Amino acid sequence: MKFIVAMTGASGGLYALRCLKKMSEAGAQIDLTISEPGCISLAAETGIKLNAHSPDMSRLFDDASALERVEYSNPRDIGAKMASGSSPHDGMVIIPCSMGTLGRIAHGTSDDLICRAADVTLKEKRKLILVTREMPLSLIHLRNMVAVTEAGAQVFHACPHFYHRPQTVEEVLDTVVDRVLDHLGVPINTQRWKEGDA
Ligand SMILES: Cc1cc2nc3c(=O)[nH]c(=O)nc-3n(C[C@H](O)[C@H](O)[C@H](O)COP(=O)(O)O)c2cc1C
Repeated sequence: MKFIVAMTGASGGLYALRCLKKMSEAGAQIDLTISEPGCISLAAETGIKLNAHSPDMSRLFDDASALERVEYSNPRDIGAKMASGSSPHDGMVIIPCSMGTLGRIAHGTSDDLICRAADVTLKEKRKLILVTREMPLSLIHLRNMVAVTEAGAQVFHACPHFYHRPQTVEEVLDTVVDRVLDHLGVPINTQRWKEGDA
C-alpha cells in the first residue's frame, strides 16, 4: 500500500496527524507534502512548527520507525515523484483541504506540487479524496466541490458524527479519518454501526 498525503492550510491538521498515524500503523508507505499555509495552520492549532521545505518529520509521528516508510516532498518541487503519472500509488488524500487548494484543483491550475499531484491522480483515474473544511460554504466553494466530484474526486467534507458518543478528541477525529481510510482500503479497527445501536 502506498498513498500520497497532502496537508494544506485549512483548519484540521489534527485529522492529518491521526490519518498519518493510522496509515503508518497499517504498514503503508506514505508520500507526504505540506503546503506553506498548511504549516501555519498546523502551528496555530497544535503548536507543531514545521518548515514546509525541510520539516522535522519526527514532530509528526510518535513512532520513530514510521519514518522509514515516509518520503517527504517540498510542495514547491514540481519535479517530485508524485507529480508524475508514472509513479504508481493506491490513492491520494488531501487532509485538511483548503478552499484555495480545492479551487485550484477544480480549475486544473497544477501550480504547486499538491495541485499537480491531484491533477495527475485524476487523469490517471486513481482515487482522490479531499477532506475539505470551511464554514459556511460560498457558492464558489460548492461549485468547486461539484467540479472535482464530476472529475472523479470524492469530497469528504470534515463532518464528525456523534452517534457512537465519542469521549475524546481522538475519537471525534476518528469518525472522519476512519471513513477516509475505509475508502482508501487501509485496514483499521473502527466502530461500525450495527443493529441495536439506536
Ligand atoms: C489558523 C488558520 C485556519 C484556517 N482555516 C481555514 C479553513 O478551515 N478553510 C480554508 O479553506 N482556509 C483556511 N485558512 C486559510 C488558508 O490557509 C489560506 O486560504 C491558504 O492560502 C490556503 O493555501 P493552501 O491551499 O496552499 O494550503 C486558514 C488559515 C489559518 C492561518
